[in-house]
Amino acid sequence: MFSKVTIALVAAAMAFVQVRGESHTVTFTNDCGYGTPYLWGPDGVLLSTGSPYTSNGPADGLIAYLQIGPCGNNGENCTLVEASLNNAGGSSADISLIPPHSFTVASGFDYYNGCDGQGTDCTDNDCPDAFREPNQTGFEVVCLAANVDLNIKFCD
Ligand SMILES: *[C@@H]1O[C@H](CO)[C@@H](O)[C@H](O)[C@H]1NC(C)=O
Ligand SMILES: *[C@@H]1O[C@H](CO)[C@@H](O)[C@H](O)[C@H]1NC(C)=O
Repeated sequence: MFSKVTIALVAAAMAFVQVRGESHTVTFTNDCGYGTPYLWGPDGVLLSTGSPYTSNGPADGLIAYLQIGPCGNNGENCTLVEASLNNAGGSSADISLIPPHSFTVASGFDYYNGCDGQGTDCTDNDCPDAFREPNQTGFEVVCLAANVDLNIKFCD
């Protein structure tokens, strides 16, 4: 049976979780041995060049790629990972090879701290699960867990 102290502690912990609010972390695993991961937010805000990024609130409109030389700031010429991490609307991530993107290195992602292990890998130019036309929305990997985190991986 729970004591009153235990109940008070649990209530305090739950209140703390609620006060803490929405947050998402994006981490990188670069097994290529070269290149620099780039993570951009909306409006051309550079969020990371490889270190973990944690949002205070939703993290919508993220793009990431491994800069190995030819990539533009929007990931042009390179394999692109796109993600929106959002408690209210649900999170979604995918890989795009829609021109001007094109395959450079194996790129993928996995959710963690929710929807563990769900994700996609695009390991070559013919990979089946990357967007090549904007209408291929079935390739979006959706996660409805709150405060979910995302690991983006290259040459994994
Ligand atoms: C993409 O690659 C082409 C050919 O190498 C280059 O001319 C172009 O500037 C690159 N695009 C961007 C946005 O960097
Ligand atoms: C997507 O668009 C292309 C043409 O741009 C079309 O050939 C294809 O059938 C469409 N696919 C779907 C799933 O609607």
